[in-house]
Amino acid sequence: MDVQHLGPSNATRGPPLMGEAHRCLNIILHEHATMVQFEHRGRRPSVNGEAWVAPSAVLVGDVNVASGSSVWFGAVLRADGAPIRVGNDSNVQDGAVLHPDRSAAYIGSRVTIGHGAVLEGVYVEDEVLIGIGALVLEDTRVGRGSLVAAGAVVPSGMDIPAGSLLMGNPARIVGSVEPRHQRLIQEAWRHYRELMESYRRLAPPTG
Ligand SMILES: CC(C)(COP(=O)(O)OP(=O)(O)OC[C@H]1O[C@@H](n2cnc3c(N)ncnc32)[C@H](O)[C@@H]1OP(=O)(O)O)[C@@H](O)C(=O)NCCC(=O)NCCS
Repeated sequence: MDVQHLGPSNATRGPPLMGEAHRCLNIILHEHATMVQFEHRGRRPSVNGEAWVAPSAVLVGDVNVASGSSVWFGAVLRADGAPIRVGNDSNVQDGAVLHPDRSAAYIGSRVTIGHGAVLEGVYVEDEVLIGIGALVLEDTRVGRGSLVAAGAVVPSGMDIPAGSLLMGNPARIVGSVEPRHQRLIQEAWRHYRELMESYRRLAPPTG
């Protein structure tokens, strides 16, 4: 990596440097700070200026990412069959895939989509956590404040009442979200909201 090439202005744009590892992250992000976005049938992704999409994420077609939300490394939001909407202060973590086909994928506000989760045409209400590696199949509605456990497989067409806790394959409602689950939901979106800000300083949106 050619450090000189970046110049002093770029090298000082990030947060205070904390050792070599952080310095490398700063440099690499500046070198590759380009979102991968594709227009599809005249529709192109729209990312709010107060959102952040990682350089290696791929957005295709009619995707809209609202203010305060983040899409992490290797995530794919492919709206070549139906639109994708991500509300405010939500996060789509690394390696997650959103690919609606029959109906739109609507992700509400303050929602966490865990690493590697796969969602088809789903309607996810506000303050929901979809756990790491969960699969949420077509035409599912996830009620406000629900938690889908890591690895759960939510069958197509399921209508999940607000405040539900789901686990397993096929996923079943095993109870209501308890205060500890609610804390997890709140901490997750807040944490990613904060984390996003530090990445926005390293790799500002390129439009
Ligand atoms: C669901 C979750 C919150 C645990 O909930 P919990 O109520 O604290 O669960 P407990 O650890 O008390 O376990 C209760 C039971 O559920 C089972 N269980 C817990 N997590 C499970 C999961 N992901 N899938 C299937 N079963 C699970 C336990 O084995 C236990 O079963 P038992 O009663 O037969 O012994 C946790 O497993 C989870 O999925 N967290 C999501 C984390 C995540 O993906 N974050 C996104 C990135 S920030």
